[in-house]
Amino acid sequence: MIVGQGYVGLPVAMRAVEVGHDVVGLEVDEGRAKKLAAGESYVEDISADRLRAALDSGRYLPTFDAAALASFQVAVITVPTPLREGAPDLSYIEDSAATLGEHLTPGATVVLESTTYPGTTEELVGPILEERSGLVAGKDFFLGYSPERIDPGNPHWNLINTPKVVSGLDEASLAAVKGFYDTLVDRTVPVSSPKEAELTKLLENTFRHVNIALINELAMFAGDLGINVWEAIDAASTKPFGYMRFTPGPGVGGHCLPIDPSYLSWRVRRTLGQSFRFVELANDVNDHMPDYVVRRLVVALNRRRMAVNGSRILLLGLAYKANTSDARESPAVVVADRLLSLGADVHAADPHVMSGHVDARVVRVELTAEEVKAADAVIVLTDHDDFDYDLITDHARYVLDMRRRLTGPQVETL
Ligand SMILES: NC(=O)c1ccc[n+]([C@@H]2O[C@H](COP(=O)([O-])OP(=O)(O)OC[C@H]3O[C@@H](n4cnc5c(N)ncnc54)[C@H](O)[C@@H]3O)[C@@H](O)[C@H]2O)c1
Repeated sequence: MIVGQGYVGLPVAMRAVEVGHDVVGLEVDEGRAKKLAAGESYVEDISADRLRAALDSGRYLPTFDAAALASFQVAVITVPTPLREGAPDLSYIEDSAATLGEHLTPGATVVLESTTYPGTTEELVGPILEERSGLVAGKDFFLGYSPERIDPGNPHWNLINTPKVVSGLDEASLAAVKGFYDTLVDRTVPVSSPKEAELTKLLENTFRHVNIALINELAMFAGDLGINVWEAIDAASTKPFGYMRFTPGPGVGGHCLPIDPSYLSWRVRRTLGQSFRFVELANDVNDHMPDYVVRRLVVALNRRRMAVNGSRILLLGLAYKANTSDARESPAVVVADRLLSLGADVHAADPHVMSGHVDARVVRVELTAEEVKAADAVIVLTDHDDFDYDLITDHARYVLDMRRRLTGPQVETL
């Protein structure tokens, strides 16, 4: 039983079917459940063929009907954990736990995978399950947390070969959780309680968030000092120890980095009354990167005695990272909004992102020589592999490349 059939839940469901489990994929979004039942995948990492094979096996039932939960043995919760007005919104987890609680039977195991602050499994999920079922966690049923490390679009690291951290409320719960994931992945990594497992995920994402902010701030200063930050990054990356490569960009996006560290800082502030300064600083730097992109464009146009107002700007890439269709929290959307508010004529090309993710005034186009020629400036925001980069350098009057994919006399990098 997998609750939530999204970027995280669907791959877990597919893998569970493939190793021989009977899987119900519970999905509140009726449209999504119907698509899955019809063999239509909306998650890029899961091909229609793989989904079809799971359906054909007779061991995968995608549904929005919670009645299918009856007498489940293992339930994995993979529902969203967004921020609402800067605070964690755990309503999806609460709803899932309430639904599971109604169907919980002695001996069953419940695992939370959604990213959240330390304490959620024991202080929120456990009590809801107990209240709804009348059973006792640890005594009548097993409970644990196992963070997801999926990296959509990563061709090398996937659910199976990425070690999976597992935890349980007590030894028996840990054994049940570990036993289940041992059937799915190559290697499980047990930790002593759900809180450590919850913190592990937030440590990983906060580490990334802070280091990206560091390199973003460095890139801005290096630019102002007339130093090529990319060359310094390449050179530093030759150090075989004690350095990890991060590259600058137009800001952070997706479901994880703009959100997860704030779960941790919210918990620290609420429980300890202190501010998690690294997270606040990283948020500040990364949130301002889209403004920096606009500032660089203003300077470039100004050199040509032009204003943003009335200029035609072609944005390349709306997704938050290369080769994905995910435009959630994407900095490209913020850049588009800023340019529109300054009166620019904004066009955008992204073969991966469906329409509807940006302001309706943004003209969605294909990347063609005509579009590039017609633009007063081109901004590379996401370096999808399938963009024709030669076409851009051949025809663009000016390019602001936030990803260092291009070289040429008319190209400026971050
Ligand atoms: N996307 C990633 O790369 C990634 C990586 C690691 C961790 N995570 C974490 O995993 C969690 C899920 O993220 P996601 O990207 O899969 O989100 P998603 O939006 O792609 O999928 C979540 C799905 O859950 C469904 N849902 C919501 N409430 C439900 C309920 N009560 N019952 C059944 N279905 C319900 C939604 O309709 C949606 O389809 C989040 O906490 C996220 O932070 C995501």
